[in-house]
Amino acid sequence: MNSWEIVQNRRVIFGGGRLAELPGILSWYQKKKVFLAASKSVRSNGAPVREELCRMLDEAGIGYYLYNEISGEPDLHVINKGRDVFLEHGCDCGVAVGGGSVIDATKAIGMLAVNGGLVEEYQMEGRQATTVPPLFVAVPTTSGTGAEATKTSVVVNNYNGLKKSLYHNTMIAEITILDPDLTMDLPAKITSATGMDALSHAIESYVSLNATPITRMYGLKVIELIKDALPAVIENPGDAEARGQMMLASYMGGVAITAGIGIDHIMAQPLGGQYHIPHGDACSIFLPAAMELNLDYAAEAYADIAKAFGVYDAGKDTRENALAAIQAVRTLQDRTGSPKSLRPYIPGELPSREELVDVVKRTTGHITCNPRPLTEDLMWTIFNMVL
Ligand SMILES: NC(=O)c1ccc[n+]([C@@H]2O[C@H](COP(=O)([O-])OP(=O)(O)OC[C@H]3O[C@@H](n4cnc5c(N)ncnc54)[C@H](O)[C@@H]3O)[C@@H](O)[C@H]2O)c1
Ligand SMILES: [Fe+2]
Repeated sequence: MNSWEIVQNRRVIFGGGRLAELPGILSWYQKKKVFLAASKSVRSNGAPVREELCRMLDEAGIGYYLYNEISGEPDLHVINKGRDVFLEHGCDCGVAVGGGSVIDATKAIGMLAVNGGLVEEYQMEGRQATTVPPLFVAVPTTSGTGAEATKTSVVVNNYNGLKKSLYHNTMIAEITILDPDLTMDLPAKITSATGMDALSHAIESYVSLNATPITRMYGLKVIELIKDALPAVIENPGDAEARGQMMLASYMGGVAITAGIGIDHIMAQPLGGQYHIPHGDACSIFLPAAMELNLDYAAEAYADIAKAFGVYDAGKDTRENALAAIQAVRTLQDRTGSPKSLRPYIPGELPSREELVDVVKRTTGHITCNPRPLTEDLMWTIFNMVL
């Protein structure tokens, strides 16, 4: 067996209404001042969650600073300013209640607060954290990114326009609260996009050259859950059971993707940044093409994925079953109204091959765990397949 390691949360809390346990948890850790980033769009049982959260903290006598600057996928300014606010207000922990954007921003802000410097130094210049960040509690309100389960923060660089990650083993949330009630009012478009993100985490990590027994186990479970739960929540947004399954799938997909991203994310992340495509939609667009291009390098793994989708046929050979897995992804795209083409998102002229390769190389192009070796030809081929 290969050697490997995995970084996971210390504590994972799952269940409807369990966000209410947050003040008690913070009290146990003797926290006095929370850096609180909470999306204002989130509702639970009809009531705005952010107000409820503030009320609960007030009642518990825990101070907080409500950081309202995170709108959309985070950039350098949002994070550097957050670091200043964290320090000015004497915060001793970070709590993120929101989608991947809010979680990633808060994750990076806590790290910067104790490590100093600007986020771009960690993102572009390879600076490493040397101090453990303050307590960080992540509460996802979309079911997709799995950012609550990863040590990564994805940030848009305002100076060069690149969307690039920074990461450190200590940046992972100490505690995550998976409260599916928070996703009951998630609009259909965000539900489908984030669901396809979670699916792509499962599929990409399963065929990753760095896959481990743990990430593979999680990956298959994610597919088993999403194949039914995602269409269920699109058809009936109030299906609480299916919302819970999506939240679990998203978390498990986050654990799985610690095995590394493949050609889908390698393209979706930089181009999503360039053309302002919601992350999950960008992942959806590239996923089937990524599987087709990897087919000869990962056919057995895709046949396993066909089993998880429930489309495996013992009478067929490995390649035919792998193709059935790709078809299952396309069917799911149809059932959830997920995008399949990049063209509508590109205003005006298409990039040249040189421009495309340049943006990928400067962001995700260093990644080496896609089963088919990453080449400039492969980047250009997949780009043209999804136009
Ligand atoms: N750190 C990681 O490991 C990781 C993994 C995958 C993606 N990401 C990153 O996460 C970001 C995307 O996160 P996302 O897809 O969760 O989207 P998001 O956080 O940008 O949220 C999308 C929209 O949904 C709204 N929203 C969130 N929860 C809601 C709710 N419960 N009800 C109603 N509206 C709600 C938000 O206000 C926002 O307008 C991207 O930057 C992506 O690159 C990070
Ligand atoms: Fe993703």
